[in-house]
Amino acid sequence: MTMHEKLQRLEELRAEAERGGGEERLAAQHARGKLSARERLDLLLDDGSFVELDRFVTHRSTEFGLAGKKVLGDGVVTGYGTIHGRLVYVFSQDFTVFGGSLSEAHAEKIVKLQELALKNGAPIVGLNDSGGARIQEGVVSLGGYADIFLRNTLASGVVPQISVILGPCAGGAVYSPAITDFVYMVRGTSFMFVTGPNVVKTVTHEDVDMEGLGGADVHASKSGVAHFAFDSEPQCLAAVRELFEYIPQNNAEPAPHRESADPPDRQDEKLLEIVPDNPNKPYDMHDVIGCVVDDGRFYEVHRDFAQNLIVGFAHLGGHAVGVVANQPAVLAGVLDIDSSVKGARFVRFCDAFNIPLVVFEDVPGFLPGVAQEHGGIIRHGAKLLYAFAEATVPKMTVITRKAYGGAYDVMNSKHIRGDLNLAWPTAEIAVMGPKGAVEVLFRKEIAQADDPEAATEARIQEYREAFAHPYVAAARGYVDDVIDPRETRPRLISGLDMLRNKRDRNPRRKHGNLPL
Ligand code: HXC
Repeated sequence: MTMHEKLQRLEELRAEAERGGGEERLAAQHARGKLSARERLDLLLDDGSFVELDRFVTHRSTEFGLAGKKVLGDGVVTGYGTIHGRLVYVFSQDFTVFGGSLSEAHAEKIVKLQELALKNGAPIVGLNDSGGARIQEGVVSLGGYADIFLRNTLASGVVPQISVILGPCAGGAVYSPAITDFVYMVRGTSFMFVTGPNVVKTVTHEDVDMEGLGGADVHASKSGVAHFAFDSEPQCLAAVRELFEYIPQNNAEPAPHRESADPPDRQDEKLLEIVPDNPNKPYDMHDVIGCVVDDGRFYEVHRDFAQNLIVGFAHLGGHAVGVVANQPAVLAGVLDIDSSVKGARFVRFCDAFNIPLVVFEDVPGFLPGVAQEHGGIIRHGAKLLYAFAEATVPKMTVITRKAYGGAYDVMNSKHIRGDLNLAWPTAEIAVMGPKGAVEVLFRKEIAQADDPEAATEARIQEYREAFAHPYVAAARGYVDDVIDPRETRPRLISGLDMLRNKRDRNPRRKHGNLPL
């Protein structure tokens, strides 16, 4: 063969690899509103940046007639490219090839990428669209999954790992995304479940369809398995690209910087209007966040799950930060099981990847009730406390209104190494709210009073004057300053600058024992 002929052969093989499972299956994929594995990579990565690896890999199975059925690439396109000019490793499962199912060879391709990502300190994004373990390969396929899970675990906290679910993801296959940092889903086409609707029907007699059991909205709002849900694949992949404006390449790099024309000393008058005079009236903490961060841009994570706590990314004076905020507009901003777990996971991501934390606090306490106690609020609430306490990144808190009870300690208080703790004049920092306190302290007196209502009111007023303000905490140095709400942005930006070289570390140990 001449060089020319060899090059021609190479071109033919490349084209064959790109055809995947063929036109018919590709048309079926499109008919379902799904893109192909390569179309997805085009949307995810910077134009023309994708470099493919292992395109000639095929399976080695001879079972169930697979011997003669080999498809180049074996159902997954792998390689590297860039997002906003920064290196990222990617795999994209191809449902048109054996339903994107995972063979030994398919798993090896993913493992190779995971090892490259770890060695070279770059994030890895997995686009999942798969029927699960390649049935014809049996235990060898299960072994391939375990090889991936192990590397997911070893890479956790070293490089960011992102899972995008764009088709079925069932059985044990769900556990790779579950270990990764962020899970994205698309309504109507992506599903995650350990056992599908048919098995559920047999075992529990519950009638449920794929969407109702494990669709995007279910996981983004009820189970918390997914952090994001979108209406279409292009929207979903654009959102993954946006995430990269906030996260570093690895745990040894600082978080990215984004230039902004928003002046660091901007003081927003609207901040004076947000907290209502009546302490029992709700307000939306998104408004506070929007007034403070650069250009009002907030990349919310887990937006539809445990909405009584808000978490997400923003920039302040160009620095990427992780925001954790109580939400008075939902359940008065109480901490409960789901919000504690949501907050803890986010805090730990930020701490692992050098992203400073900014807390906006208005919390009346932990949610009372049998369901919460029996569900383990003690164990789950401890996760958030533990996460804030162990975090060594710069940590700042702004108390906008209530900081009551144990929740005061938990929400990045000074006592658990908050670096800069500020309070608005509207802050109320005490063991409990005025009404509850008065009922405990003056129950007998109120019961015996001629006018119990008036007696209660008088005591509440007394308590308010004594405790429902930030100055007892400020007198102790538990808050570093009481500030005009309009100063919040400049004070936080100056705090970030002040803490830029922060060095803090935890005692040497194999690992802590987070209350799981
Ligand atoms: C081999 C598979 C496959 C699999 C699908 N295909 N799943 N081949 N192994 N696991 C093939 C089909 O034979 C078909 O091939 C093509 O992919 C498309 O599949 P369809 O069934 O035609 O597609 P659709 O109707 O859209 O249904 C998709 C599906 C269904 C819901 C995913 O295929 C399905 O139920 N598959 C099995 C799912 C499953 O039980 N997997 C094991 C889960 S346990 P042709 O040639 O006709 O195009 C697991 C354990 C993980 O994964 C281990 C971790 C510990």
